[in-house]
Amino acid sequence: MAKVTVHYTDYFRQTIQRLREDGLLLVTADREGKPNVMTIGWGTIGSVWGRPMFIVLVRPSRFSFSRLEENPDFTVNVPPYELAAAAAHCGKVSGRDHDKFREMGLTVVPARQVRAPIIEQCVVHYECRTVHRNDVAPSALAQAIADEFYPRDDYHRVYFGEILACYADENAAERLRAPSGPFAMMP
Ligand SMILES: Cc1cc2nc3c(=O)[nH]c(=O)nc-3n(C[C@H](O)[C@H](O)[C@H](O)COP(=O)(O)O)c2cc1C
Repeated sequence: MAKVTVHYTDYFRQTIQRLREDGLLLVTADREGKPNVMTIGWGTIGSVWGRPMFIVLVRPSRFSFSRLEENPDFTVNVPPYELAAAAAHCGKVSGRDHDKFREMGLTVVPARQVRAPIIEQCVVHYECRTVHRNDVAPSALAQAIADEFYPRDDYHRVYFGEILACYADENAAERLRAPSGPFAMMP
């Protein structure tokens, strides 16, 4: 499937929808280029410092965290509905002791601009380079959110990734249409 360059906001709605459903696939790589993948359910796309930005939140306990500290580049890949099981697996086991690409049959392909690959079977790809990072500040966080999401004080690090390239399958809108009929997602 040919991948065509798109504007970083072209698939905003579908990207946020998939983020809230099965999650997106965040690919990082170590200094030597060895990749890892994890599922993310939190993040946003916007404009900061006049630059297109993909902001992701990663807890320090993740293997991906150590990769991001080593190499600022990452890609965010939007999985089609057929990859729901892969998203679940990549959100459950760690790259410390699993080769999630092999286990789920995910094909890595070199990115166009950054030193972390993309996942071929995904539909939309954002290539990013971290330009800022900060930690969620407990003292500045609403108590209700702290109570609900951080009972173990494992506050996320927030990575601001400048989007250096964005491209998608030619039939991306079709591939990201929510399934209908008996297999449709429940609200
Ligand atoms: C749907 C879903 C969304 C998730 N979102 C995030 C997230 O935004 N940030 C995060 O740190 N972990 C998130 N996780 C958990 C990681 O994906 C999970 O801990 C993963 O095994 C980490 O892999 P790694 O150790 O190879 O980096 C999510 C898991 C699932 C299933």
